[in-house]
Amino acid sequence: SRRVARDATRDATYASGLATLESCVEAEQFDRAMMEELFDVADAMERVRPGAPESTMLQGYLMSTLFYEPSTRTRLSFEAAMGRLGGGIVSTESAGEYSSAAKGETLEDTMRTVEGYADIVVLRHFTAGSARRAANAIGKPLINAGDGPGQHPTQALLDVYTIRKEIGRLDDFKIALVGDLANGRTVRSLASALTQFNNVKFYFVAPDVVKMKDDIKDLLTSKGIEWEEATDLAAVAADVDVLYQTRIQKERFANPEDYAKASGKYIVDRTIMDALPKSSVVMHPLPRVDEIVVDVDDDPRAGYFRQAQNGLFIRMALLKVLLRV
Ligand code: CP
Repeated sequence: SRRVARDATRDATYASGLATLESCVEAEQFDRAMMEELFDVADAMERVRPGAPESTMLQGYLMSTLFYEPSTRTRLSFEAAMGRLGGGIVSTESAGEYSSAAKGETLEDTMRTVEGYADIVVLRHFTAGSARRAANAIGKPLINAGDGPGQHPTQALLDVYTIRKEIGRLDDFKIALVGDLANGRTVRSLASALTQFNNVKFYFVAPDVVKMKDDIKDLLTSKGIEWEEATDLAAVAADVDVLYQTRIQKERFANPEDYAKASGKYIVDRTIMDALPKSSVVMHPLPRVDEIVVDVDDDPRAGYFRQAQNGLFIRMALLKVLLRV
């Protein structure tokens, strides 16, 4: 790693591991104390208003967003986060096509170039493990905005933050992870993050071709965390506090027949909402295709657009923490 120790090795602002956090690459970097402290910062970010002194805390800083895969929420919420705190942005989307990656430049060379321009880099890439490679190539903070089927740690953080806000606790609850559990980096990162909390029970509801992989099941088992696979979504819905639906990710299937087998199997509709307890929440990392019917959006338990907005506050908090401001 080219990372050089910063002169302030600890940030006295934070009591937890946030004090020494240098990058955000994997959900496993965050223990419970770090998440809770980050959520307190995010709560404060919700109160930042345009023109208030806090809205200029990142003035003079530049963030680069390099996105090799499409995004609406992650890129725009990072850019909004930087803008709402007074910082600047240098950005490329479709980086595989519109950056010099198209001419054969390596990820490492691109990263070493960009760190000369910006104070923090946000990277979305199509290859699992690319964010770790990128973080090791530079001496500035790197945020993984999703690396192929690998990890999406900022999504996991905003998801845990959303669960806390929606159901009022992070211990003693049941969650159903539904849909594409094999390729879904959001559910994999979320399951890993939730191992930090007590008495969380997982249900996995997925078509046969995209079941949750053994590494996550083994992780839960090794930590004594209860999980079960199920096929009856209505029955599971009746027993959970959080129903976390995901899209079947067509772009990750090598075989179109497998995609056809998986798509349309588990849909959140009025029948599922009728089964779901009144105090529960439906979450989805978005974008959705047809796996939550639009009819459900007006239900107070439909939390997915609130969840997307929480991404703004979590990303504002992460920028503050990583830039040591
Ligand atoms: N949830 C999420 O990562 O959305 P985008 O792909 O739109 O960024």
